[in-house]
Amino acid sequence: MSREIKRDKIFQTKFWLLLVLIPFFSLMASDLPVYKDPSQPIEARVKDLLPRMTLEEKIDQMHGIITPSRAIKAGTIELLMIERFPWDTPKNTRLGIPPLRCTDGPRGVGSGHCTCFPVAMLRASTWNPELEEKVGEVMGYETRAIGANVLLAPCINLIRHPLWGRSQETYGEDPYLLGVMGSAFIKGVQKYAMACAKHFAGNSIEDTRFFVNVKMDERTLREIYLPHFKMAVDAGVASVMSAYNDLNGYLCAHNKHLLRDILKDEWGFKGFVVSDWVKAVEDTLSAINAGLDLEMPAGVHYGKELKKAVEQGKVSEELIDDAVSRILREKFRFGLFEPPLEFDPGKIASKEHTELARKVAEEGIVLLKNEGGILPLNPKGLKTLAVIGKLAKYPNIGDRGSSLVNPPYVITPLKAIKEKLSGSVKVLYNSGRDLSQAENIAKKADAVLVVVGYIWKDEGEGHDRKILTLHKKDEELIKRVAKANPKTIVVLEGGSAIIIESWKDLVPAILMAWYPGMEGGNALYNIIFGKVNPSGKLPIAFPKSPDQLPEFDNKSKEVVYDYWHGYRLMDKKGYEPAFPFGYGLSYTRFKLSDLKLSKRKIRKDETLKIRVKVTNIGEREGAEVVQLYLGYKGSRVERAVKELKGFKKVFLAPGETKTVSFELKPEQLAYFDVEKNRWVVEEIEYLVYLGSSSRELPLKASFKIVGK
Ligand code: BGC
Repeated sequence: MSREIKRDKIFQTKFWLLLVLIPFFSLMASDLPVYKDPSQPIEARVKDLLPRMTLEEKIDQMHGIITPSRAIKAGTIELLMIERFPWDTPKNTRLGIPPLRCTDGPRGVGSGHCTCFPVAMLRASTWNPELEEKVGEVMGYETRAIGANVLLAPCINLIRHPLWGRSQETYGEDPYLLGVMGSAFIKGVQKYAMACAKHFAGNSIEDTRFFVNVKMDERTLREIYLPHFKMAVDAGVASVMSAYNDLNGYLCAHNKHLLRDILKDEWGFKGFVVSDWVKAVEDTLSAINAGLDLEMPAGVHYGKELKKAVEQGKVSEELIDDAVSRILREKFRFGLFEPPLEFDPGKIASKEHTELARKVAEEGIVLLKNEGGILPLNPKGLKTLAVIGKLAKYPNIGDRGSSLVNPPYVITPLKAIKEKLSGSVKVLYNSGRDLSQAENIAKKADAVLVVVGYIWKDEGEGHDRKILTLHKKDEELIKRVAKANPKTIVVLEGGSAIIIESWKDLVPAILMAWYPGMEGGNALYNIIFGKVNPSGKLPIAFPKSPDQLPEFDNKSKEVVYDYWHGYRLMDKKGYEPAFPFGYGLSYTRFKLSDLKLSKRKIRKDETLKIRVKVTNIGEREGAEVVQLYLGYKGSRVERAVKELKGFKKVFLAPGETKTVSFELKPEQLAYFDVEKNRWVVEEIEYLVYLGSSSRELPLKASFKIVGK
């Protein structure tokens, strides 16, 4: 048979086969229940599936499951948490409903050996939401690649006080910065997996987290502790996790005002509310009435108890249907009913992902001090470098609670320095335990790097940090080394602000490295030796003394949070911080000029445009974060002296100028009127401040909001 005839025959067979199969498939397709048809709108799929489910099947959607084999293997719930395999809800085989599979958390995927990014506090210091979106995207991908579909992040609780043990997991002290960075992360994650904004709300003490009642007035709640959660909802977050603590007398998982009135009814949140993990729910009826949709990690109150409550008429089936619809909606939205997309496990902690971890660290390490331009160091001018402090060779990637990540490797500062300087500079290491030894080594070197700070034992989930300063022995070490060698550079590691007054003036250079992730050592090397120009800015003010902070009470059963903390408190009281919110140095210098407002008066339905020029007036390329703060003149209520309302990170070559624009809508300037129970935009004068930190604001202007 000739080739042509053979081809023809094959073609004919295919043609007939298709003719028979097409009607067969269309018949099948028309039989496909609506909920299984991906071309149908999500709401139609939810509406179709719900009535097909029995009460038991519905309730199964609403709680986690710890399979006996897993529980037996782990032994206890605590061990199970450490085992850290995704936390599942039951699978429904009859109807083909896939389970939720949840994994932590804020600095990388907690199961397996995934990319360990710098902690969120470092990422907040980048003030770069585009970069944070990329971080989210990688974590979302790795979540799916390990077989999970919900990432229990971001943590967007506001840091009221730097001693809070979980500060490192979040994005700082300011609601706007928290909201922008958290939303960017959510957008990134949700390209692949569901994100979970946690912990809703007012969670910022560890030692008493399971029982403390956090009290605050409605205005403080709305203006300080909730705006970032609202921004996460507006960014489309799939789930919100209720906090462990009580808020104004109700456990957060039982808190109708928070979950139903504000989150669901007022903000229009369409996703589901999940409980936190340990002892977060205490009672079936209170939780379901308040609006908790999913109890994790097991159905203690939402299993048989909930079914009984429905059967006894104590809970309406509409409430159950609403909760189940929310969960199903997100399962459809994230394509869980369709055959899973290919997620290549080979990409987990791949070069592409770890390079991003390094880049983020490079943008988020903050240069606090650089007297006489001692940094960057030039390897050519160095013969001997002393590296001192046990953290220099400790893989210090942060807490070991639920945010623990087990990366395949960690580059410590010492490892990076030794590898990169090998052959050219002699590197001497000393742990610093013996002060005279450290001193001797410092004397022999041309420059010294001291790496000090905290580790997971000092601060983390379940335990607050006990001190605001460094450990006494670290302070002593810095003082002795600085005396022995004037070219002493201090690298700080930790999760939030540190008081460094007792030694700050003794050293010429200080870097805040937070917990810089698996590539942290490389990033630090690149900054110290000038391969990268630092551009990190503090997402929390560093105080000079404890009395510049609000009270931190992690003993009492009840605490009161007032309106004031961080830079808002320091501005109100006129305190001079050690390093202000938004502060960070660069190896180059910038100048802001030509501040222009589109109008001097705007109506409440108008938008104000603000433009400013920023120029790199130094010798090398670098990035500046242009920060916009707003003040209020003649307000009816006491307001912050100024508040962050916008920021842009701008990358500039030497001599280059760029124009930065902001848009302000009047609703961004509203305050919450407790009597009227709504947001109010006042017809007053607003002060505009532009600059490079909350205390370096060289450009000022003002505008008015007027009635029609
Ligand atoms: C933490 C959550 C975490 C959960 C699951 C809880 O103890 O508070 O943030 O997502 O455990 O690991």
